[in-house]
Amino acid sequence: MTARAEQRQQQQLAFQASNQNIEVGLASACPLAVAELTEIDEHSPHVREVFDGGLTAKVYHLEVDGSHYCLKQQRRPALVKNADGATSFLNEVQRRQDLQALKQRPATSAAFKHIVPTLYANYREGIILSPWIEGTILDRFSREIFNQLFSTLFALEQAGLMEWDLSPGNILYDGHNIHLFDFGYMYRFDPLAEYNSDGLTLPEFHAAERFETRNLFGFLLRYQDSMTESDRLALFRELKEAALDSYTQKRIWLRQNYAKTQVIDWVTTIIARWEKALDCDTALASLYRAESFRSHCLDIADDLSGKSCTPTTLLRIDAVIETLATHYLELKARDALLFDNKELGQHDLIHKYQACRKQAEKYLLSTS
Ligand SMILES: Nc1ncnc2c1ncn2[C@@H]1O[C@H](COP(=O)(O)OP(=O)(O)OP(=O)(O)O)[C@@H](O)[C@H]1O
Ligand SMILES: [Mg+2]
Repeated sequence: MTARAEQRQQQQLAFQASNQNIEVGLASACPLAVAELTEIDEHSPHVREVFDGGLTAKVYHLEVDGSHYCLKQQRRPALVKNADGATSFLNEVQRRQDLQALKQRPATSAAFKHIVPTLYANYREGIILSPWIEGTILDRFSREIFNQLFSTLFALEQAGLMEWDLSPGNILYDGHNIHLFDFGYMYRFDPLAEYNSDGLTLPEFHAAERFETRNLFGFLLRYQDSMTESDRLALFRELKEAALDSYTQKRIWLRQNYAKTQVIDWVTTIIARWEKALDCDTALASLYRAESFRSHCLDIADDLSGKSCTPTTLLRIDAVIETLATHYLELKARDALLFDNKELGQHDLIHKYQACRKQAEKYLLSTS
């Protein structure tokens, strides 16, 4: 873990141990008394649906007097996996406070329209109340959807906020608009002086990478049988064009605001790589291989460390082994081998991911 992340965790653990509270909005705006909201369970007559899959919270779809709400209720104790998980409910209430202020300020409200409003949140009572969004988990993509996503992520970055978990379960789509609502892993950073909320130590992580890693490349693997190679590349091109637009605007903003040269150069390198790849389909296919490989490796490491492997983890490992076998030199040339993988040769890498597969199969069996 980086020093920057450790510092944040320490501050959050100290806040948890104190008796300070964070309240967002007014309790009088709630359709039910706060004491009633904290006690709601699946037997309540107001509950329409329950989402029980989260480690730190339970989510209820409520109906009160014909209006629909989403109640996120902290689990006590949390089914904690690690320190970031242990502080994620607090983190979400902190971010709800930041985001609600940005949504209410006339100068910034339009930029945050894809962020779900907070009607009321109370950290010590363990509740967050939002309007219920009629929609489905985002499972289709288009240029418009990518534009909504990247413009929201850029607005967040300008406000000094970086979202790490853009997984499918955290983005709703109502047929016209996307909605972001789970901020357990959205952290503060200084966009003019840091790459991300880990400071200047991990240039690998940024908005487009987060979406590709947590979401798009998993989607493309799950739907690989119903899409041709050229369908996949066309979608990737749309994504990269939207991301390029957004990163180009970001670079202008960084320059206008006298950002650190190191940060501007970092964005320039990413932009140059994408521009070159968008020139022709062969270069784009090569970037696709490199970025999908990187995304799969990062997500496999996450799944194994959290012992939370799914059938998609196995698909990701198979894709990694195949790309290593067929395009190892290209991956190396494109800097797609990250962290420990940089030190390993082709044979050792294949061996490593074969061992990962065995381990993932075990975790899959033990969780099913
Ligand atoms: N405002 C909302 N409107 C409609 N559905 C919502 C809303 N907020 C959450 N949901 C639904 O509830 C599910 C879980 O919500 P959320 O992602 O906030 O919590 P979680 O990931 O289960 O919890 P944890 O933070 O412990 O991981 C979402 O995947 C979504 O389907
Ligand atoms: Mg979630």
